[in-house]
Amino acid sequence: MTPLLEAVGVVKTFPGVRALDGVDFELRAGEVHALLGENGAGKSTLMRILAGDHVPDAGELRFDGRPVRLASPADAIAHGVRLVAQERALVPTLSVGENVLLGRLPRRRGRVDWGAVRAQAAELLARVGLDVDPATELGLLRRDEQQLVEVAKALSDEGRILILDEATASLSTSESERLFDVVRGLRAHGVGIVYITHRVGELASVADRVTVLRDGRNVLTAPLAETSHEGLVEQMVGRRLADLYPRARPEPGEVRLRVDGLSADGVCSDVSLEVRAGEIVALFGLVGSGATEIPYAIAGDVSARGVVEVRGRVGLVPADRRSEGLFPQGTVGRNIGAATLGRYGPAGIYLRGRETAAARRQIAALDLRPPRPWAPVAKLSGGNQQKAVLGRWLERGADVLLLSEPTRGVDVGARAEIYRLLGDLCAGGRSVLLASSDLDEVVGLADRVHVVSRGRVVSVLAGDEVRHDRVLEVATR
Ligand SMILES: Nc1ncnc2c1ncn2[C@@H]1O[C@H](COP(=O)(O)OP(=O)(O)O)[C@@H](O)[C@H]1O
Ligand SMILES: [Mg+2]
Repeated sequence: MTPLLEAVGVVKTFPGVRALDGVDFELRAGEVHALLGENGAGKSTLMRILAGDHVPDAGELRFDGRPVRLASPADAIAHGVRLVAQERALVPTLSVGENVLLGRLPRRRGRVDWGAVRAQAAELLARVGLDVDPATELGLLRRDEQQLVEVAKALSDEGRILILDEATASLSTSESERLFDVVRGLRAHGVGIVYITHRVGELASVADRVTVLRDGRNVLTAPLAETSHEGLVEQMVGRRLADLYPRARPEPGEVRLRVDGLSADGVCSDVSLEVRAGEIVALFGLVGSGATEIPYAIAGDVSARGVVEVRGRVGLVPADRRSEGLFPQGTVGRNIGAATLGRYGPAGIYLRGRETAAARRQIAALDLRPPRPWAPVAKLSGGNQQKAVLGRWLERGADVLLLSEPTRGVDVGARAEIYRLLGDLCAGGRSVLLASSDLDEVVGLADRVHVVSRGRVVSVLAGDEVRHDRVLEVATR
């Protein structure tokens, strides 16, 4: 059977980077082909070539076995390619309906037929399971809802090739499931789907084949059934998975954080825990359990009742860096310096040089890249943005770090660095409270796991009990 699409020996170089170094890739009709790889592996670049956004330096594209040159996105669309890109392509000030049908608004007698816009958009939104009025201004929707609008838009005319570039990154489990339903429906109609994700765990419910890119090369293409989770991650990072969690376990010191009977409406009830110097204590719960909200209640970001005692300073690293943790318009230096502004000059005189020195200190300590204090933080990868927020609290001398989903939206390589960093911080006597719904990282890092269900700690596991099977068993009860 001739594949829908083949890329053969594709090379793409940007100034200073060889993003793709002779990649072969193939997509068949009626398959979901997962594409994995660390950040920077070249996934998006390959997809943008297939979508006509970039012209390759060398190599060939074939549609239905015939060589094709794509000179523009319009060429790719004519060949049936629909790309849901990583960067939003929506217009926040237009309505949801207009966004879904942008470029092909139905018309009657030369005028936009708003009744038809509404009806057609509503149908597409229903397909992705999004229950919003098409007349709503797009900018008022949550990130995950906007993501689904983007998918609805890609479905708005007949494509043969659908590319989803990290489409589930901001979706909850149930929303992802709904998207998978849509994907399976399209597959049954012979559409070829390229599915890019960093959540290896979700592939089982959707993918037929998988390709792993590493440093711009294809290192594996195989039927999913012939691979294992651990094997795929090893291919992505090019090293053994066990090395992801290298952690010294120092003898715990004094109690740094004590929480007793903490309750916050709609978040948690009667939570008690302790974290000593040198410890990583985890709050684990499935999505919706409330586990990842508890750090905000401890930090006083949401109003709560109960006792919180801290020895030293606390730093809160929130889950959604982009909306809560970062100053997205700022530089790396400004983001790192944000909690220590008072130090950069006496009474209202602000000394850029001191802030820059502080930033350089943390950049070096955290191996933040690019290592430039004046780089705009918005341009950094998720992992490096996370380091900038961590650096802010380390510069402030925080002894207790409260982290909520620290690696959400962070690729495997940067994750390994964050884990190493947390290990180092504990070895240096700091205390970490890690709230996470990522079972791997909880089991890999924590000395103790408080399993949360419906806002309550239902079990505390320590020592040999900190295992995948035990934690999941308790969490799913
Ligand atoms: N428009 C561009 N200009 C310069 N460099 C780019 C551009 N797009 C991607 N790159 C670089 O190419 C490499 C691959 O990036 P990308 O394809 O986005 O990776 P992935 O999607 O796997 O994270 C990275 O080093 C990235 O910095
Ligand atoms: Mg990408």
